[in-house]
Amino acid sequence: MCGIVGYAGYGDAKTFLLRALNNLEYRGYDSAGIAAINGHGITTIKRAGRVSALEETINGQFGQATTGIAHTRWATHGSPTDVNAHPHVSYDGKVAIAHNGIIENHATLRRSLTTAGIEFNSETDSEAIAHMIARHMDDGASLLEATQRAGNELEGLSVILAISSSEPDAIVGIRIGYAGSLILGEANGARVLASNTMAMPAEVTAVTHIDHCEAVRITRDRAEIADVIGATVVKAQVPLKPDNRITEIGEYEHFMRKEISEQAAAVQGAMRGRIDFSKPRIDIPEIDRIPNELDRIILAGMGTSHFAAMAGSRWIERLAQIPTTVEYAGELADREPVMGRRDLLIAVTQSGETYDTLTAIETAKRKGSAVCVVTASAHSEATRMADFAIDIGAGAEVAVPSTKTFINSMLVLYMMGLQIGNDRGKLSQLEFVRQIESIVALPRAINRTIGQESDVEELALDRFKDVDNLLMLGRGDLFPIALEGALKMKETAYVHAEGCSASEMKHGINALIEPATPTIVLIPKNGELRTKMLTSIYEVQSRGGEVIAIAHEMDFEVEELADRMIPIASDDEEHFPFLMTIPLQQLAYYTALARGIDPDRPRNLAKTVTVA
Ligand code: G6P
Repeated sequence: MCGIVGYAGYGDAKTFLLRALNNLEYRGYDSAGIAAINGHGITTIKRAGRVSALEETINGQFGQATTGIAHTRWATHGSPTDVNAHPHVSYDGKVAIAHNGIIENHATLRRSLTTAGIEFNSETDSEAIAHMIARHMDDGASLLEATQRAGNELEGLSVILAISSSEPDAIVGIRIGYAGSLILGEANGARVLASNTMAMPAEVTAVTHIDHCEAVRITRDRAEIADVIGATVVKAQVPLKPDNRITEIGEYEHFMRKEISEQAAAVQGAMRGRIDFSKPRIDIPEIDRIPNELDRIILAGMGTSHFAAMAGSRWIERLAQIPTTVEYAGELADREPVMGRRDLLIAVTQSGETYDTLTAIETAKRKGSAVCVVTASAHSEATRMADFAIDIGAGAEVAVPSTKTFINSMLVLYMMGLQIGNDRGKLSQLEFVRQIESIVALPRAINRTIGQESDVEELALDRFKDVDNLLMLGRGDLFPIALEGALKMKETAYVHAEGCSASEMKHGINALIEPATPTIVLIPKNGELRTKMLTSIYEVQSRGGEVIAIAHEMDFEVEELADRMIPIASDDEEHFPFLMTIPLQQLAYYTALARGIDPDRPRNLAKTVTVA
């Protein structure tokens, strides 16, 4: 939550910082600001609203500034107003800071600064930091020393960037605990500090992670990292993967639609170098690091990643014959789970930054369990904490509602189940080959399903535009898809949607059925679960409910029965969880558009949730 970036270079700081803010905006988008140093000291401009609103108000006010910091905010303390936006400036105008995190002792700090005669301008916890640094500098400390001292006085988790007109070429960054990453990028003629690699200029090919209790001071030509007592720390750089750079929106109006449309290519990214059809073989080399003696696999994640973990847990259990459990990462971290050396935690997190997921990883490590992270972010904290990480191969995702990272996380978990099952002799060769054939055919099936977009768009306009409540039912492998489909509707289109196991209907949810509440029903192709889902259709209809079914294109019985049907054009039952996700994503997207909502940036949310 919140994106921070600092630039010290030979170029125009404002131009760089605005571009970087646009790339970090997914982290929080209720206000944004820039503070930069020019011949007249520090100039600060900040605005409630999106980065574009900030851009419109700048009007050359930064002059030729070449050093500056910037922030895009997701409010915690104080509503999203111009005044509460970062950067915050000290009482003497000589220091500006951008902050990510929460200061737990902010009330005490505020009281003591106010007693000392300092007036606060904002309602934020962060403003205190600017005053504290200025006071330490007044006492003779350098910017680095003053920021470190102020950092020592804070309780809670924070990342801070600070500038001072007394050291006009420098930016200091510090990290206390984990409140988002602090990453250093160095290129000819510029040094950059930022929350994420997405803010790095193209010339940066390697980055350095700043860790807990470390401080960094950059100028255009130098970067020095210091530990808590000021001793120099020498750190290795990590090569920057091109995949982590933000992509352009191209011909699309929204990133969400672009990312839905990219899903065939995205799944190919997950398979690349891992599936060898000629052998046939799946080779995810990291899987060799799973301990041999394993009693249980626990999967955990938050939001969309939790539902991907839920789908994955079923497949891993079925294919590898290892008991699995799945839960919200936050819930795992909030209790004292019985876990040990014979357990493996698979944490699913596309960003690798989600607070609750990092805390679950910490818990598992404390208990002596092995930790694997399934992620899109090679440079994330989760990757650094885990014993090993498996890249989902989806590249950067920009829209707040996750789409391609859901499909890719599921596919990677599926492939993990297959490889573990095959390695441990739990699958017949015939079955293994059949499953690989099925995966190889997935991209084409995804593309065909994406191609049916106009029918879903029509459904959104005709029917879902004015719906306030809806139910989404699935069973077995399609239950997690119903949950994810409902989450998409809530977060993207602000429609109250309940994702349910159809087995649970009679235990309370049936009471919600009425003509104004449509029910979307996910129907498997064959078997007992299909029969059970047909019964659910009858039950909904006999209580006056409208049924929209997603089912195999040749399922004429369902077509006849349901009020409407979205056809799935694949004969492969294994494809269904992946393919049924797509119309649900499109439905959320087009319903959001029909309701005048920006699907990429839904209200009150952020893509990366680094606070508790
Ligand atoms: C936020 C995002 C969701 C995402 C969840 C977990 O809530 O809006 O789209 O699923 O965080 O994020 P992660 O990065 O851990 O997958």
